[in-house]
Amino acid sequence: MWHEWSLRAKIVGLTVGVVLPVMATATALAVRLSRNALEDDLRTSGLALARELAASAVAYHGTENDALLQQEIRSMAGRGGPVRDVAVYAVTPAGLAVRAIEGRPERPDADVEVAAREGQEIVAVKRETLSRLWQVTVPVWERKRSVGAVSLTLPLARADALARRIERQAVLLWLTAMCLLVGALSAFMNRALAAPLGRILGVMGRAEAGDLGERAPEDRKDEVGQVARGLNRMLDRVASFQTELARRVAEATAQLRTTNERLYAAQQQVGRTERLAAAGELAAAMAHNVGTPLSGVVGHLQLLEEEVTDAAVKARLRRILGQVNRAVAAARQFLGAARPAPLRVSVDMETLLADLLLLVSPESQRKGITVVQTCADDLPTLAADPSQLQELFLGLITNALDAMGTGGTLRVVAETGRSDKGGPAIRVTVSDTGCGIPPENLAKVFEPFFTTRSASGGTGLGLAIARRIAQEHGGTIRLESEPGRGTRAVVELPAGAE
Ligand SMILES: Nc1ncnc2c1ncn2[C@@H]1O[C@H](COP(=O)(O)OP(=O)(O)OP(=O)(O)O)[C@@H](O)[C@H]1O
Ligand SMILES: [Mg+2]
Repeated sequence: MWHEWSLRAKIVGLTVGVVLPVMATATALAVRLSRNALEDDLRTSGLALARELAASAVAYHGTENDALLQQEIRSMAGRGGPVRDVAVYAVTPAGLAVRAIEGRPERPDADVEVAAREGQEIVAVKRETLSRLWQVTVPVWERKRSVGAVSLTLPLARADALARRIERQAVLLWLTAMCLLVGALSAFMNRALAAPLGRILGVMGRAEAGDLGERAPEDRKDEVGQVARGLNRMLDRVASFQTELARRVAEATAQLRTTNERLYAAQQQVGRTERLAAAGELAAAMAHNVGTPLSGVVGHLQLLEEEVTDAAVKARLRRILGQVNRAVAAARQFLGAARPAPLRVSVDMETLLADLLLLVSPESQRKGITVVQTCADDLPTLAADPSQLQELFLGLITNALDAMGTGGTLRVVAETGRSDKGGPAIRVTVSDTGCGIPPENLAKVFEPFFTTRSASGGTGLGLAIARRIAQEHGGTIRLESEPGRGTRAVVELPAGAE
């Protein structure tokens, strides 16, 4: 509960909790002291009056003077002073006799007996039904002998009423002081703590939400001002850290971009080199295709040469045979180059495609092309040559990027399919929203050296190589295109390709 209170409530509560009992005790003490002083005062004046009356009683000695004495005590009790009852007694052989009395019962009480017989002054507080009173009893001395007693009562009702009035006023004063104290404290706390702390909390809240530009007011010299200055210093440092961080991130990003661009350029160079190597391979295939029929031609030419008798024709046939033999030898030489054994390792298609898309990201970003890659969760792993697959898909992806101007979407989707033989396969579709391929060209795009991009350095080998790689992995490749709307290249590779 205490922990949930605001600082202002705690300080006000604590002050009231401490000041309230202290003030209440002080008030009660002051009231008690005043009452005591009043009572003492009354007692002293009672004693003085009683002694004065005792002296008068001696002076008025003699029965004829008791009327005068009676007159005096009446005026004493009746003049609105502190005295209520008065009685003067004389010691007679028959006991104590009343000489003059006003307002009191005639029978003398024990105090009067003691005072008259033993010469003692007795002052005591007596209780009546609703009030208290001082009873002052003094002896009447005549020639050093106690001859009677004077007894006065002085009600304490006035002192009590006065004390009650003081009490009421004190409580009123005390309540007013309390209200003023709480009000003043509350206002002070508001001005000195709550309002400036509220402003500091506002600045902290905005800083938390990301706005580091705002600062807490530093106009105060007290602890709140120190907190504000500390917070501002901290915010300055955080802001400068943030600026520095942003600068470094921008630097690193720029560096990364440059590195990526270089990597992309290098990869393209490698691609070109590989394509030229592949061109060599295709030439070898051609050499094989040309060499085989030429070998047949050589056989026929040799038979013809044996059958012909005309020397001139024979010589000419021999020349032809020589040339054809040269061509066959050249083809054999080409074919002699050993082919490397195909590589088969486990390939994660999702990572392979993601790496390629990262590689071309400088190009796609420069052209403002949206790249979307989707891969099924249950893609089977492929046993393949990863660098060849990279070559295949990089060819398709660069074709798609080349076909799009600024803007557009490049979508690469890998999903699970079925191979021709019914086994699991991976189907990768590379689609673009580019210029598309006119129907008359669609049939030719897989031919080696067919290109519509010779002006921009196209060799026309990308798709021919892509098809060879797909076939070497036991798969297929096909192109679907709508001129003006886009092209889809679909590659299907059996998962168990060995
Ligand atoms: N996605 C495509 N959109 C439109 N045309 C395409 C697309 N893919 C291929 N083509 C057409 O097919 C031709 C042959 O493509 P291929 O990849 O074999 O060679 P290239 O891209 O022209 O040259 P290289 O691949 O050496 O840069 C291209 O010139 C182009 O006309
Ligand atoms: Mg190409």
